[in-house]
Amino acid sequence: MDSHQKFHLVGLTNSCRANSYNQMVLNHIRVEFHDLVDLHLFDISKIPFYEDRAEALPFSNEISNLSALIAQSHGLIIASPEYNHSVPARLKNTVDWMSRMPNKPLLKMPVMLISASTGHLGGVRVQYELRRIFEATDSRVMIKPEVFIGKVHEKFSPAGVCTDHETSVLIKNQLQSFVDWMKNYSLNLSCLEENVAHQ
Ligand SMILES: Cc1cc2nc3c(=O)[nH]c(=O)nc-3n(C[C@H](O)[C@H](O)[C@H](O)COP(=O)(O)O)c2cc1C
Repeated sequence: MDSHQKFHLVGLTNSCRANSYNQMVLNHIRVEFHDLVDLHLFDISKIPFYEDRAEALPFSNEISNLSALIAQSHGLIIASPEYNHSVPARLKNTVDWMSRMPNKPLLKMPVMLISASTGHLGGVRVQYELRRIFEATDSRVMIKPEVFIGKVHEKFSPAGVCTDHETSVLIKNQLQSFVDWMKNYSLNLSCLEENVAHQ
């Protein structure tokens, strides 16, 4: 990809609450940084619960659409709440589905994790659970910078505007790092492919 081209990203959150703060975080990224990335927010609330017999059936539209969307994108942004120190069920279910898709959309996919919580810790624990899950799918989670937005109700207005300068700077730096990292990553991948081709 050339250095001026915008990255096409998919944004996912648990999506089961009106006025979700994590949805606000994704919206903030989509609107404020549209010159840097093209972020497509996908609503996972219609994705059915995984069961193995569903694999024998044609996949539902939501599942097929998400799988195709991720496969055509350069990376994923996951903005996740933390439920009981772990990953909310809908989000885990969505990753489980994607891991079963024949086109393997998560394989080597760059992933940026961010979390927002009304608690102090901002979802530290959910991010470490997500890292383990994305190891299983052989995805590439950016290591640093990490962003955990604690006390998020004091940092976003009810209308979804980020009112905390420090938080908006943290998000901006993380997104910029993700873009830089994806550029290096795709460069490394193409070098690697070239090297292998010459062996
Ligand atoms: C079932 C449930 C469990 C929760 N467990 C945690 C938790 O373990 N840690 C935490 O920081 N917040 C926890 N919370 C509070 C969430 O951080 C808070 O509801 C947050 O707003 C959810 O994100 P959202 O606004 O994007 O939906 C929990 C909320 C629910 C509904």
